[in-house]
Amino acid sequence: MSFTLARFVLLHSRVCSEAATTTKNNGGLISTLNKRKFTSTAIPRAQNKTSEELLVVVGGGAAGVYGAIRAKTLAPNLNVVVIEKGKPLSKVKISGGGRCNVTNGHCVDNKMLAENYPRGHKELRGAFFNVHGPVDTMSWFSEHGVRLKIEDDGRVFPVSNSSSTIIDCLMSESTRLGVSLQTGKAVITASPTAGGKFLLGIEKRTFSSPEYVEADYLLIASGNSKQGYSLASQLGHSIVDPVPSLFTFKIEDPRLADLSGITFPKVKATLKIENARRNIPQLTQVGPVLVTHWGFSGPAILRLSAWGACVLSRTLIVDFTPDVHIEDLKSILTQHKNRFAKQKLSNSYPSEFGLVKRFWIYILGRQVLFLFQA
Ligand SMILES: Cc1cc2nc3c(=O)[nH]c(=O)nc-3n(C[C@H](O)[C@H](O)[C@H](O)COP(=O)(O)OP(=O)(O)OC[C@H]3O[C@@H](n4cnc5c(N)ncnc54)[C@H](O)[C@@H]3O)c2cc1C
Ligand SMILES: *[C@@H]1O[C@H](CO)[C@@H](O)[C@H](O)[C@H]1NC(C)=O
Ligand SMILES: *[C@@H]1O[C@H](CO)[C@@H](O)[C@H](O)[C@H]1NC(C)=O
Ligand SMILES: *[C@@H]1O[C@H](CO)[C@@H](O)[C@H](O)[C@H]1NC(C)=O
Repeated sequence: MSFTLARFVLLHSRVCSEAATTTKNNGGLISTLNKRKFTSTAIPRAQNKTSEELLVVVGGGAAGVYGAIRAKTLAPNLNVVVIEKGKPLSKVKISGGGRCNVTNGHCVDNKMLAENYPRGHKELRGAFFNVHGPVDTMSWFSEHGVRLKIEDDGRVFPVSNSSSTIIDCLMSESTRLGVSLQTGKAVITASPTAGGKFLLGIEKRTFSSPEYVEADYLLIASGNSKQGYSLASQLGHSIVDPVPSLFTFKIEDPRLADLSGITFPKVKATLKIENARRNIPQLTQVGPVLVTHWGFSGPAILRLSAWGACVLSRTLIVDFTPDVHIEDLKSILTQHKNRFAKQKLSNSYPSEFGLVKRFWIYILGRQVLFLFQA
């Protein structure tokens, strides 16, 4: 019997998803009924006493605080109140490992950037995205005293390497413009009034009965909070169920644990969708893959999870030598076999592929390789 193999292609059945983060994020949803006079006294008015109209922003994250600043910049007479149930900008603080990658510095073409969004790329290509793209974000921060740098992979960070530079900038700008920020309160209900406004139920952290506020405009910027989706549906919007994104794959193959900790700098991974009606090119990703004690992780896998989230199915195909043609692979292995005919398979392994020995032993153990006979 001769020793042969097809190529380093593993067929892993039963890919289970481990939802780590939910990154469905539409940045915010703005609603307007029509313009009428503000009548409630439950929320103290923001600084400009002459203004009559009120915008309530639900959520003091990046989207809410920036949205409030933008509204106040464009309409200085508007009363802008941000209601935040916890601490403002708390995710901005931890983003980018505490450095905060502000935007993408390589995709100056907004269309190109939008194509990288698995869900919502059509919406991003529209007015919303063209009105304020990554270049505008970078200019905005520069104009407001934050020096930014673009790293080789396109991520943009403050030169200070600290997310607090971004937080300080956003907070001082919203204070300067007179945005009112109220923390420790959550907007829990929303309904349209007969007068064409929004009646909002606002609850304080202490379990007192909710206050009611009438707003002329409402910006829901509640991140991935279920409450935000609930508010939107109370107002008649239909909600597409969010799906997890950017998660690692749990693979039921105990022997894979032997490879735990190995990084493969370049593999080709394909999610195979059964009964797929159309071919999704993004379901094949080339890039680094890390074997963990539970399965696969690394950039190529995370990208697959984002593109495959809605259709995630049974089989992941991993090609560990994507640059070696199948015929070359066969001939390298045949030559190797002839040169080391007397050695134990586990002792000799072809170095041409740049793969670690632990992986060679693993491949031998899997017996998935023997496809052609010499
Ligand atoms: C660990 C980690 C690292 C990340 N790193 C990066 C990164 O480097 N760069 C990047 O761009 N993104 C990063 N992200 C993603 C980023 O945090 C989000 O994309 C961003 O915070 C979304 O902003 P947002 O304002 O839409 O939502 P959020 O930041 O979630 O803000 C929503 C706010 O609304 C409040 N809220 C919700 N419901 C209500 C309610 N009913 N009433 C009142 N308040 C309410 C919440 O308390 C919250 O403060 C990271 C995320 C995590 C978890
Ligand atoms: C308040 O309103 C007046 C005019 O209505 C405007 O000139 C002024 O800039 C506003 N001030 C603030 C802080 O928005
Ligand atoms: C910041 O970096 C993370 C991880 O690399 C990425 O998922 C995210 O999209 C980046 N954010 C921006 C705005 O580019
Ligand atoms: C910022 O962080 C990057 C990456 O960790 C590092 O290369 C750089 O030297 C840091 N710069 C400063 C000013 O600390």
